[in-house]
Formats: sequence, structure tokens, C-alpha cells
Amino acid sequence: MTRLELPEPLSLWVDTTTAPDRLGRPVPADADVVVVGAGIAGLTVAYLQAEAGRSVVVLEAGRVGAGVSGHSTAKLSAQHGLKYDALRRRRGARAASTYARTQQDAVDWVARTAAELDVDCEFSRRDSVVHTSDRRQFGAIRREVETARAAGLAADLVDGAELELPAAAGVRISGQAQFHPRKWLLGLAHHVERLDGRILEGTRVTGLDEGRVARVRTARGSIRTRDVVVATHYPVFDRGLFFARLGITRDLVVAGTVPIPPKNMYLDAATQHSVRGHIEGERSSVIVGGEHYRTGERIDVRQRYERLAAWAAAHLGVNELTHRWSAHDMSTLDSVPYVGRYHPASRNLWVATGFGQWGMSGGTAAGLLLNDLLLGRDNDSERLYDPNRFDARSALALARDNATVARHFVGDRLAALRRRSGPESIGAGEGRVLMRGSSAVATYRAADGTLHEREAHCTHLGCLVSFNNAERTWDCPCHGSRFSVDGSVVHGPATRPLPPYRGGPA
Ligand SMILES: Cc1cc2nc3c(=O)[nH]c(=O)nc-3n(C[C@H](O)[C@H](O)[C@H](O)COP(=O)(O)OP(=O)(O)OC[C@H]3O[C@@H](n4cnc5c(N)ncnc54)[C@H](O)[C@@H]3O)c2cc1C
Ligand code: FES
Repeated sequence: MTRLELPEPLSLWVDTTTAPDRLGRPVPADADVVVVGAGIAGLTVAYLQAEAGRSVVVLEAGRVGAGVSGHSTAKLSAQHGLKYDALRRRRGARAASTYARTQQDAVDWVARTAAELDVDCEFSRRDSVVHTSDRRQFGAIRREVETARAAGLAADLVDGAELELPAAAGVRISGQAQFHPRKWLLGLAHHVERLDGRILEGTRVTGLDEGRVARVRTARGSIRTRDVVVATHYPVFDRGLFFARLGITRDLVVAGTVPIPPKNMYLDAATQHSVRGHIEGERSSVIVGGEHYRTGERIDVRQRYERLAAWAAAHLGVNELTHRWSAHDMSTLDSVPYVGRYHPASRNLWVATGFGQWGMSGGTAAGLLLNDLLLGRDNDSERLYDPNRFDARSALALARDNATVARHFVGDRLAALRRRSGPESIGAGEGRVLMRGSSAVATYRAADGTLHEREAHCTHLGCLVSFNNAERTWDCPCHGSRFSVDGSVVHGPATRPLPPYRGGPA
């Protein structure tokens, strides 16, 4: 088996863009709308609101387009796995058609807007294919073709011989696309500012007072505003009980050179390997995603990367890896994103989340819907995406999810309690949760031997973090918060760092 060397973790999209510095800008006193989060959902609605003449402020904890949107495989497609037949059975044929129309509209809106605004984001029309070699999935493939077609998509059944990788059959949907997500988002950000919107990077939102006029709080000041859109990937305010309604999956991605990249985009229905090509100057690459797991699960992440790289070498002829990165995304209980009012009583607090690995079209569709809702326009997809929908099946799934979270909370703690070894057992570059007296301590030893010790309870809702050896981060299994080894927040919903361990009675 070919063994490819793993580069240091860095997204290809972040590596191949230079972004203007929007750090340290003063926090304005007021705005018509504050958008929290400069990913694809946040920047789409920010651009549309600015275009509608509203004063917009975007608050971003990190950098524009460097969150999950800058870590995806960036297929811009209305084909979301074998989605449509499941959605029709769960929520009816009309829901499947509305979903198909809004997702395809999102793809077409990016095509049109990128052309109108002259944003070079490598937008390129492609077919999207979900394929299988597993005979047991042939029936599902055929049903998906019929339902997707009935829902209005250009779907057909394709024989394996027509595909660019080994497979027996597939569902092909034409009129889809791939692009460079960060170039797109930096382009949108530029146009938000052209329309007098303000974008503040390095500005983490830490609190919110709701009311007719809301107040959004950050460490650097607060803003009064009419509307607040929470587009922080995982909603940062707990009032919508989203923590009990979102499942988290983390995926690994590798990019490597190949002589000829695939023309179309592929997803294996059985293994969930995701494949697309990319050309940068003279270099032809393939981008491969897969090996998903639950964030914070105690697995050897590095070994999973090696397995993904070996798959890419064996199936696609990748001869050298140029990039590797990972990110997680959330799914809702019925696999339709939550877009709309944050909670049933909220008047001017809005949310977009739960894109289930399909937020390139999903986040764009969310931005288009939220723009209508904020402007008081009717939109017939409002009910489909309503974050406050609730049914008996969802309640059952919710109970199960809570049980998983509780197991992590109690189980992880007990496991840590049993682990009585001291910091001397931790080698350079390793991290582990250790018990020091009655405290669980996230302990990491740097390459130079320095020990970093932080409290190991996640600052969101208190679960125990675990060490990710491939990215050197502390990851929380409950709702996906991630912290660097110095305790700072890498990914929410947590908004506060892991406090330093100050020692105590042993
Ligand atoms: C490995 C992987 C591959 C994927 N591939 C695809 C694909 O091919 N096609 C597809 O359609 N989808 C794909 N997805 C899904 C898609 O990338 C996501 O659904 C989408 O990017 C989510 O966008 P977002 O705007 O919600 O989040 P983000 O892009 O993460 O934006 C949220 C922003 O909010 C900021 N933020 C967080 N907390 C705060 C705070 N307290 N204050 C201020 N700012 C804050 C973050 O820094 C971040 O920049 C993939 C996902 C993964 C994990
Ligand atoms: S992310 Fe919710 S407890 Fe850690």
C-alpha cells in the first residue's frame, strides 16, 4: 500500500487566498442588523441586507471565510447524498420539491451574483453524482433518481462505465457546480463594504440582550441593533435549546496531486468518500473527504488521516499530498437546516444552522431566506426550514441525543478519574486529561517540554474535552467546541477559553 506523507494541517482554500486585515476595528454603536459570523450563511445575508439599503455590521471571532466554510470540499450542489427520497417519506413530496428548488436556486444565485459582481471564485458548472458498488443500494439509487426528478432536479440514472472512478451505478444531477469558497466569501465581504457595511474580525460575541432594540455584547464593546442574525455555525446563545437538537460529525479532507483531476463531483453512498477535482496554475489535484467521526470521540485522528490518504492513493492515483484539514458540521433531527426565528418568541433574533455537510448551497439558501424574513417578505420555504418545528419523532431523537451527551459527560469523567498517572507520563506533542486532586486537567506537553495545563471542563456546558492528536486541539464531544492547547477557543459554541489550571490540594 502507498504511504503518503501527511503535511501540516492547513486548508487549501485558506492557503491559497490573501485576505485584507479587518482586525482591531472599533465596534460601532448601532446598526440596523448585526450578523454574527462571516461564513457563507452570514456573509450571504449581510450582502443582501446591505444591498437592500440596511446598515450592516458583521462581527467575526476569527477571519472572514476561515471557519467551516473555508474548510469544506466546496461542492456547490443541490444533491446532498441520497436526500430526496428520505425527505419525501419523512416530510412529504412538497417538502422535497421546496428543498430541491431552494437549493438549486442557491447554486444559480451564486453563479449569477459572482458574474454580476465580477468575483473570480473559480465557479465552474459540473455534474454531481452519488454512486455505489453495493448491490443492496441499487433500489435506493433508483428511488432517488425518481424522487429527485419529481422534485424538479435534472436527475438521471447513470451506469458505472460512464463514471471516472470505480462504481456500478449512480444518481447524476446536472447543473451543479464547484468553486473556491474563500475567494467567494472574500468577494462577498468586499461588496458588503462597498455598500457601506462594516466587517470586524477578531471580535467574538459573548452575550446578547434581546428586546425591541437588541444589544450584542463583545469583549471590545456592544452594539444596539434592530435585528441580530446568528450565523456562527453552532448557535452561540443557548436559548433555542439547539444543543439538544444538533448532531455533530467531523470529517477529514486531503488534497493531493494527480495527472488528470476528475471532471465531475462524486460521493460514494456506501463509504461516504467525497471527491472533486481542482486546478491551480500548473497543478492538478483531487480533493477527497471522508473518515467521519463524532467530534471529541477518543480515536486516533492521525491514523484516520493515513487511512484516507491511502484510499486516495489506491482509488484515484494520488501521488503526493499537498494539504490536509478537517472540520465538523451539524445535522438537524430531520436533516433540513434550521433557518428562521431563533426561538418561538423571538421577534428580531434569527438563526441559520444545521447544514448537515451541505452548507455551501444550504448556507446560501439560508441567506436568501433570512433576507426575505428580515425584510418582511413572504417566502414559501419559511415553514420547511422553521427552526421551531417539532414532531414526535424529533422528540425521540432528541432524547437519544441527550442520552449520548450525558454518557459523554459522566462516562468521560469516570474514565478520567481512573487515570491516575501524572504529567511525567506525557511525551512531547502529546495531550491527556489527568486527575490532579479533584480537578480534571487538560495536560499538553509542547515540543520544548513545557507543560500546558488547563481546566478540562468545556466552558459551554461542562463536558470533558479530549485531545485531538492530529490537530493538537482539545475537542469537546458534546456540542463540538474546540480549544487550542493554550485554552483559547478555536470553535464554538463555547465563547470563553479553558481557564488555566491553578493547582490545588492533591
Ligand atoms: C469537511 C467538510 C466538508 C464539507 N464539504 C461541503 C461541500 O462540499 N459542499 C457543501 O455544500 N457543504 C460542505 N460542507 C458543509 C459546509 O462547509 C458548512 O455547512 C458551511 O460552511 C457552514 O457555514 P456557516 O456559515 O454556518 O459556518 P462557518 O463558515 O463556520 O461560519 C461561522 C463563523 O462564525 C464565527 N463565529 C463563531 N462563534 C462566534 C462568536 N461567538 N462571535 C463571532 N463570530 C463567531 C466563526 O469564526 C466562523 O467564521 C462540508 C463540511 C465539512 C466539515
Ligand atoms: S460544546 Fe457543549 S459542553 Fe462542550
